[in-house]
Amino acid sequence: MLFGKNKQDKPQKAAPKGNAHYLTAKESREIARSNAKVIRALEKEKKRRIPEEEYLCEMADPANIVEFDDLHTYFFTDAGVSKAVDGVTFSIPKGATVGVVGESGCGKSVTSLSLMRLVQAPQGQIVSGSIRFNLGDKAYDIAKMPIDAMRNIRGKQIAMIFQEPMTSLNPVFRIGYQLDEMVLLHKPGCTKEEAKAHSIEMLKLVGIAAPERVYRCYPHELSGGMRQRVMIAIALSCDPRLIIADEPTTALDVTIQAQILDLLRDIKDKIDGSIMLITHDLGVIAEMADYVVVMYAGRVIESGTTEEIFHDPLHPYTVGLQKSKPVVKRKVDRLYNIPGQVPNPIDMPDYCYFKERCDRCTAKCSGEYPHFVQVSPTHRVACYLYDKEGDND
Ligand SMILES: Nc1ncnc2c1ncn2[C@@H]1O[C@H](COP(=O)(O)OP(=O)(O)OP(=O)(O)O)[C@@H](O)[C@H]1O
Ligand code: SF4
Ligand SMILES: [Mg+2]
Repeated sequence: MLFGKNKQDKPQKAAPKGNAHYLTAKESREIARSNAKVIRALEKEKKRRIPEEEYLCEMADPANIVEFDDLHTYFFTDAGVSKAVDGVTFSIPKGATVGVVGESGCGKSVTSLSLMRLVQAPQGQIVSGSIRFNLGDKAYDIAKMPIDAMRNIRGKQIAMIFQEPMTSLNPVFRIGYQLDEMVLLHKPGCTKEEAKAHSIEMLKLVGIAAPERVYRCYPHELSGGMRQRVMIAIALSCDPRLIIADEPTTALDVTIQAQILDLLRDIKDKIDGSIMLITHDLGVIAEMADYVVVMYAGRVIESGTTEEIFHDPLHPYTVGLQKSKPVVKRKVDRLYNIPGQVPNPIDMPDYCYFKERCDRCTAKCSGEYPHFVQVSPTHRVACYLYDKEGDND
């Protein structure tokens, strides 16, 4: 923990009966005061100049490019502490595509933003846990790195493709300027002419037909698919080891979606990198990913190879997700939906977060949050249904 243990867990006073979200002015002031104290301590820690030895670490498995280890990222809001990422542990092997799936608000983006150290500060903070990143000859714990040092990792070693290319590209600069900027920043000694040649090469690589013309265009002069290709070109321009693609095709129509996914697959092989692919779309995961991580309410509830998750889903939530996916040739009157809602991240229960929605819950499920059960070397699930004595982590 970066600050006094469980300060953020301090129970807030019970709300008056009949209104679970009601806070008195006094309670709001207390929350604001306690948030300000914690945020001050965390921001101070972030700005501290520390030597490299303090954030050097060992990978648990050198075959991984990233290892999230019990990561907690919280938002200190006026209504209380929102545990957006609440103890996430999973790895991304070198050269693999790991799909992260789960319903809206379950913490997929916040997990990836934590890896980039781009969580919206000051209210958003990594409060504990590690994010080990493998640089080949050494490994860094990104959660402990000073923000200045992070500038050498972001964009250069880890690149991100966002969901909406129009809001990610700067509308007032030409495409060429935005591409060159990335190269000039991360390749010291590179001249403007070399940067331009490299940028045009990248535009060609992502399948843009007239790269010289597109180089001179503004973002609004391009179609959605072209803009997403430009985003991918920017992400690739410094040969990153890892690409984070956060819903890269959600804003695109189906034909363009297929082209962008093909492009990502080709590129991953060309650069021999890894991809963390975040999506709601199980079809995209099935097509693209080697491993799948299923998240629910800020936690990983199941992970395994794509084969394991699709052919042998274990957690009732994963089973529900599969059932709610339309299948060609399977006729149903009504598509299945998982009843109920994700619990409020400000007021999580201390038992299984899925209990209120689970149709298989048993007496055991009212106990503490279930531990992971390892069902195969690659497949693990956090659910009491598979918890035989002695199997827990
Ligand atoms: N800037 C913020 N301030 C407060 N809470 C935030 C902020 N950003 C995210 N959150 C909260 O963190 C939780 C996780 O959000 P996140 O964006 O990671 O969800 P997601 O799984 O990516 O959802 P989606 O599929 O809709 O993109 C949500 O409860 C969200 O309300
Ligand atoms: S632990 Fe119990 S409530 Fe939670 S998902 Fe498993 S069966 Fe359902
Ligand atoms: Mg998201």
